[in-house]
Amino acid sequence: MDDFTNQFKNYTGYSERERPAEDAELTHVGPNTSCGEYLRQYWHGIALSNELGELPLEIRILGEDLVLFRTGEKQVGLVHRHCAHRGASLKFGRIEDDGIRCCYHGWKWGVDGTLLDAGAESKSSPVYGKVRQGAYPVVEYKGIIFAYFGPPESIPEFPVYDTFEIPDTEMVPYTCSFPCNWLQVTENGIDPVHSMFLHTLVNGPQFYEAWGVLGDVDYVENDLSVYCTISRRIDDNIWMRVQENIFPNVTQSGAVHTADGKQTRYFGRNTFFRWCVPVDDTHTKVVAWANFGPRTDPIEWNSPENIETLEQGALFDRPPDELQRNPGDYEAMVGQGPIVVHEKEHRVTSDKGIAMFRNRLRKDIRAFKQGEKSLQPGQLGPMPIPTWSGDTVLQIPLKDGIDDKVMRAKMFKSLKTILTEAQSLRGDERDRVIIQRLKTLEAET
Ligand code: FES
Ligand SMILES: [Fe+2]
Repeated sequence: MDDFTNQFKNYTGYSERERPAEDAELTHVGPNTSCGEYLRQYWHGIALSNELGELPLEIRILGEDLVLFRTGEKQVGLVHRHCAHRGASLKFGRIEDDGIRCCYHGWKWGVDGTLLDAGAESKSSPVYGKVRQGAYPVVEYKGIIFAYFGPPESIPEFPVYDTFEIPDTEMVPYTCSFPCNWLQVTENGIDPVHSMFLHTLVNGPQFYEAWGVLGDVDYVENDLSVYCTISRRIDDNIWMRVQENIFPNVTQSGAVHTADGKQTRYFGRNTFFRWCVPVDDTHTKVVAWANFGPRTDPIEWNSPENIETLEQGALFDRPPDELQRNPGDYEAMVGQGPIVVHEKEHRVTSDKGIAMFRNRLRKDIRAFKQGEKSLQPGQLGPMPIPTWSGDTVLQIPLKDGIDDKVMRAKMFKSLKTILTEAQSLRGDERDRVIIQRLKTLEAET
């Protein structure tokens, strides 16, 4: 090889250009796909209550074209978009007191898909009682509309988690969209290393300087979730942050905007609770609450008034050059492409949370395919279901002769034990026990 050629011998563009197929088992969500049918076992947040006005809302979830509407009698309906008569879109339907009337031949459908009026047909026509519009069950809760897309005989109890009931907390619903697969939006929640680099070290502090402190990262899995934890030394404090991915597509995280580890905090809770709902294979709709309150994010970067424009602190609709200069979660996730090709990744130890999440997902998807139903949150004891996400900051100064890394690991182990042992408790009693035990731990260390 001559010198000219030799200097380029390590360039791999040509040999690396093949793009294997995506991991369809985990990413394809349409009807009759493995993942799509698995996801249809669960309730999903699909829209905000205030997205429903006087016109039907065209919506696409799990690759299905649908229409969402609220009747004059305030019932919410979610039906197949195309009218069962001859396929006109109910997006152009007229909402009435008890249902939606198709614009084409005037057939009217109730929220459960019952044919209420067949237009020109005689009232004694056999079409009544025979033809139905495909409809899905919905629940409206705290400003969000949830839907269940599976067979009605398998409908699970609607899950209520502990972080839906934090005292003195304002829960502000918001939604935003990502033109990429649901899994990469979900996986962002158990990728704590990105908060050090994307949010701090690479782009400058997007939240707090302290996010750039390279903490000790650990991962834990239980029946409900995969948790990732970061333990950091901040001056005299040990700050333990727990982020959580609840199967299959919910993420919640500790405080975003006030999290700097400088003030003691005993079992602080989540700043957001978000469903990463597949619109189709390459689009995701996040439907979420942002929390405002003393145990979540008391002083927000964003505010209850303009929450729709923000997701995890990043403004949408920024100019293109600004996006390049200061990329946030949106740019990172969407920039991975419409569907990340797992086979092209080079995962390392800090991607352990991602690996744990995918492994469990694959296991559950395969088990479901074999006829085994996945564990539902409601099977884990009475509601509200206890979760772990949040920030705990204990005042534990450095101690002579004690390796701080060992100390941080010991504290995190204790936190884990406290949370695990309080798993059977609920509500205020659980909070009281956890907070008391954390204070005792701090005092005795
Ligand atoms: S297509 Fe809807 S009533 Fe005919
Ligand atoms: Fe992030």
